Amino acid sequence: MTFQKVRKAIFPVGGLGVRFLPATKAMPKEMLPVVDKPLIQYAVEEAMAAGIEQFIFVTGRGKSAIEDHFDRSFELEETLAQRNKKAELSMIASLLPEAGQVAYLRQQQPLGLGHAVWCARHLVGDEPVAVLLADDLVKADKPCLAQMIEAYQQVGGNLTAVMDVPKPHTDKYGIVQPGETRGRLVEVAGLVEKPSPAKAPSTLAVIGRYILDPAIFAELARKERGAGNEIQLTDAMAKLIGRQPFHGYRFVGRRFDCGDKAGFIEATIAYALEHEAIGKATRDMVRRFAEGLERDGA
Ligand code: UTP
Repeated sequence: MTFQKVRKAIFPVGGLGVRFLPATKAMPKEMLPVVDKPLIQYAVEEAMAAGIEQFIFVTGRGKSAIEDHFDRSFELEETLAQRNKKAELSMIASLLPEAGQVAYLRQQQPLGLGHAVWCARHLVGDEPVAVLLADDLVKADKPCLAQMIEAYQQVGGNLTAVMDVPKPHTDKYGIVQPGETRGRLVEVAGLVEKPSPAKAPSTLAVIGRYILDPAIFAELARKERGAGNEIQLTDAMAKLIGRQPFHGYRFVGRRFDCGDKAGFIEATIAYALEHEAIGKATRDMVRRFAEGLERDGA
């Protein structure tokens, strides 16, 4: 059986980013740079590498920097041209999606991830759609979404990236009640949003990559509130169990929770260590830190 091609992706960027205040007071969390690239650009590049053709940003107030980032900047281009900065000019140009490929819409109130996705229903229509949360940064040789789309072609329905987390952390994630396992695919028999470790059905956690069947929109339209009094995407996905296939996909790669300060620093170090220009300097720096810590017995 072949399933419809996944051509569209939603980038929900309407969250408040409370955990990153005051950095996120006037700047979107998704514009925080890991080394030299904003989080949202990593997500868009991942989607492009997976063959996505239409990019739907669900934004909110104070997020206009994201729109500017993916637009022409005539003043900057002119100045770079005058200074003969050819490499920088072509790097800026390579950021630009084709005209008409990107759509922005506003989530008027941050009522939850499920609500943000529902806001995009008219732009998605009756076809499968990917959802990428930019604050979940996945470092992988083959981009995470590309791995998922390949898996989706085997099973259809709803698919989410999953990974094992330490048991004490289950209350930060949607946790899967696993059914049958086939290679990297795990059937989702149930899903609980942010359960306490004692109540968690496993340690298999949903991370911010999804492929959704359009039937999700009817579920989200009920606007039922879940954990944190928010409209949760995972709750709507769980409601479709039994009516549609639902799988978790154990992706190959390393995920960084960049919505959290410690996760963000970890990502910065991991990317800096491999960066062409500053990799060596970073390795030396990390070594010096480690030696200092050892010396201090910390
Ligand atoms: P988070 O749970 O990380 O919330 O949202 P947040 O507001 O971004 O950050 P904190 O917890 O206040 O620090 C997960 C993803 O869902 C999006 C966010 O932008 C983020 O990508 N989101 C969340 C929305 O787009 N709208 C919402 O109403 C809630």
